[in-house]
Amino acid sequence: MRESINMSLPSKPEYVSVARLTASFVANQMGFDIETIEDIKLAVGEACNNAILHSGSDETYKLEFIKLSDNLTIEVIDHGKGFSIEKYKKPEAEELQESGLGLFIIKSLMDSVEIETSEGQGTKIIMSKIVE
Ligand SMILES: Nc1ncnc2c1ncn2[C@@H]1O[C@H](COP(=O)(O)OP(=O)(O)OP(=O)(O)O)[C@@H](O)[C@H]1O
Ligand SMILES: [Mg+2]
Repeated sequence: MRESINMSLPSKPEYVSVARLTASFVANQMGFDIETIEDIKLAVGEACNNAILHSGSDETYKLEFIKLSDNLTIEVIDHGKGFSIEKYKKPEAEELQESGLGLFIIKSLMDSVEIETSEGQGTKIIMSKIVE
């Protein structure tokens, strides 16, 4: 079984709830428990926020929700300026940080996360969760 839902959203914060609601709908349909559904919504929201705030592209970005029998994969794709993974610093446990947490949160909540990005080329974040 493979089904996918594709959407293009305006790069505006008020539409992030459309992505979160879709994540919630699909995850619920696939039988994830309520806590995991909340985790997936949070991870998707963080990836959307990044596409809106950091990509520098103010038109649209894309999402793809891919349902496999035991796995939900979500891709968040923008065609903005991208960034350098080498320069990304993961937050330090000793320092209380108020920002720079999004990617860390996504990686902690999802089972696998891949980031395809390079400066000037846009960003694709691919995150998956396995149905227990
Ligand atoms: N889609 C993107 N396009 C361009 N740069 C990005 C993108 N996503 C992340 N980045 C870069 O990676 C950095 C880390 O992202 P992360 O979400 O971890 O933290 P943040 O967005 O700065 O803060 P927070 O998510 O806590 O509000 C960002 O500051 C930005 O430089
Ligand atoms: Mg962020």
